[in-house]
Parts: sequence; structure tokens; C-alpha cells
Amino acid sequence: MSTETKVTAALDLAKIRADFPILDQEVNGRPLVYLDNGASSQKPSVVIDALSRYYQNDHSNVHRGAHELSNRATELFESARTTAAKFINASSEREINFIKGTTEGINLLAHSFGRKFLLKGDNLIISELEHHSNIVPWQLICAEREVELRVVKVNEDGEWDLEHFYSLLDSKTKLISTAWVSNSMGTINPVEEIIEAAHKVSAAVHLDAAQAAPHFIIDVQQLDVDFMSFSGHKVFAPTGTGIFYGKEKWLLEMLPYQAGGEMIKEVDFGGTTFNDLPFKFEAGTPNIGGAIGIAEAFKYLMNLDRVALQEHEDAVLELATNLLLEIPGVKLLGPRNNRAGVVSFNIEGIHPSDLGHLLDAQGIAVRTGHHCCQPLMKRFNIPGTCRASFSIYNTKDEVHLFIAALKKAIIMLK
Ligand code: ALA
Repeated sequence: MSTETKVTAALDLAKIRADFPILDQEVNGRPLVYLDNGASSQKPSVVIDALSRYYQNDHSNVHRGAHELSNRATELFESARTTAAKFINASSEREINFIKGTTEGINLLAHSFGRKFLLKGDNLIISELEHHSNIVPWQLICAEREVELRVVKVNEDGEWDLEHFYSLLDSKTKLISTAWVSNSMGTINPVEEIIEAAHKVSAAVHLDAAQAAPHFIIDVQQLDVDFMSFSGHKVFAPTGTGIFYGKEKWLLEMLPYQAGGEMIKEVDFGGTTFNDLPFKFEAGTPNIGGAIGIAEAFKYLMNLDRVALQEHEDAVLELATNLLLEIPGVKLLGPRNNRAGVVSFNIEGIHPSDLGHLLDAQGIAVRTGHHCCQPLMKRFNIPGTCRASFSIYNTKDEVHLFIAALKKAIIMLK
């Protein structure tokens, strides 16, 4: 796209951008600059084509047909599971469940782990920076099971207060659930340390990897994490898809989530036995096309130089942060460094939603508001922020367009 983009080692950004047909358009008379990837990322042609190919040639229901199309659909669906296991380096496909997104993964865990393992007097730990989907399911299950919900404070930089965390962690802690990367600030949480500390008191850890999965190479075995959820639509896959990972030792013990077809071995009015993993947690006809789409997105990413992608994303984020901090009256939410993919900010005297409208008028897509993190906004005493979130296809040129548009918006609003 430009001289600046060409210098990025080992990455052909022009080619990557061409893989995403939606990017090549004008919005409000200006070239689209899509900086709302934290909300949802765009889809490469390979994903769109895989969906179309599946629906045009191979669609049928899975695991139940005595015919060719059902066999094909089943094979595509189960090989998507194998790809997903590879993407996060799970030790087995039995540890992979297709879900409709991170929210469903956390609700599954709250229901299935909570009703089995949480007992009166136990406690469960989350933090102030969580998305509502990693707060409300825990409030509900904790109230039901008479379990204490403990909340780790974040410091002024929007990072976990580890001293406070250690003061909350004890032998009654059964589970810690936190974002790997904060959706509203981009803060990268010290998940290795959290997991190690949790395991010392035999507590399990769930990572909400919704914002981490698009940026990091994930290795659940190396992390030694017990559970992980993330959405497909933030990782270049269709909406209504996602991955829930759980260590087999937990999944075998946990209660089913939803009940119905697929998740049973035998149904009798005298009693029902549940299916083997992974089917125990997949009641009903799954989102077959979605699973095929998410696997295609994983393959797309795994075929790229992921280290170079991450370096590129970090460089784009660093440039955006530096240029933002030069603007008078800018207040960054979250740490100066130690962030992934997101820069969240306010401009003194200007409401973030006004900024969002004026940026949109110039072709720049960002998200404004509380980002489904109302407790965090209260913690910082702000109504919300303006958030630019970056993906593999964003360029440094786009950062310059964003900053120029922002400066124009500020002049108009002051
Ligand atoms: N959780 C998504 C976001 O942060 C929707 O924008």
C-alpha cells in the first residue's frame, strides 16, 4: 500500500489486504479505515469461499446420516475440530467444543463447572477489567451456589493489582476467570503467573481469550490453562462460532451444559447416559458451516508468518499510541506499554461518542462507549472511551489517516 508498509519483513501486507475484499471500499466518500477489530474482524475470501462451497456442495446434518452428504458434512465438521485443536495445541479433539462465541463458553463453564464443583463457602475470582460476559454469569452461579465472588482491583494503569490478587487467593478458591487481553484497554494480563498461583491452591483457571486469540500464538498445554473460550468472529471467522477448550480431566467430571440430541449415549425414562467427549457438550445440531469457517480462518492464520504478524501489529499499535500521545488533552486508558491490539483514549472536554461520529464521517471505524465494561468505566470515573483496535491488515498509513481525522474532529468539537 505504501513505502511504510513494504518495509515490514516477511509480510506482504498488500496481499493480506487483498485477501479481505470488504476493505476495498469507500465509506462516506473516504477510503474505509477499519479500526474496530476488537468488536469484530473482517473475513478473508478463503473463509467466505469455504462457507459457500460447503452450502453449495456438502451440506447435511452431521453424525446421523446414512448417506453421502451427511458423511461429507461430518468429515468436514470433525476435521474442523482437529484444526481447532492444532490452532491452540490442545492434546486432543475431545478437549474442543464448538460454541457460538466467548459468551457461550463462559456460560457453559459457569453452568457445568459451577453446578458440579462450586460449593457453599467457596470463592471464585475475577477482576475489575472483565467484560460483562465474564462478570454476570459468575454473579448468577455464585448467588445460586452461595459462593463468594471476589474481584481483583486494577491499578491506575489498568493492570491487575497482583498484591490484591494474592490477598484474595486461598484454599477455598475454586476458579479464576479473567481476560487474557482486556477488550477495553488492551492490557495483557500476567496469565502465566495467575495460572501458576492458582494451581498452587488447586484452583482452576479460565481464560477469556476473545481479544488474545486474534493476536497471539496459543499453546494451551504450555500455558497449562484449565479452560479457555474465544469467539470466531474476532479471528476472521463467521459470527456465531467459537471455541471452548477444557482439560479432559475437568470435562469428564463436569455436568452437561444443554441437553438434547447428540449429547446422549442412551435415553430411557428410567435414566439417561451422556455421550463421550466432545459430544457431551454439544446438544442439538451444531453450527456446521460455522465450524468449517472457523477452521478455514485458523488455517489462513497458520499459513502466515505469525511472529511477523505480531511484530507488525505491535508496530502499528506503537505508532498509533505515540501519535495519540502527542495530541493535547489525550488521556490513555490502560498501560502505556504491555497492550495488544487496542488503544483506548479520551480527549479532555469531548464526549467519546461525538468523536466516533466525526471519525465515521471521515471513513474511520472505531468503537466508542463502555465496551461492555461498566464496572471498569466506573473505576476510572469515565462514561466510556474511544477505542481503535487493530488487526493484521491495518497499515501505518491508516494510522496516519486516523490521527489526521481525529485532529480534524477535535478542532470541530472544541
Ligand atoms: N466484546 C466486543 C468488543 O469489545 C464486542 O467490542
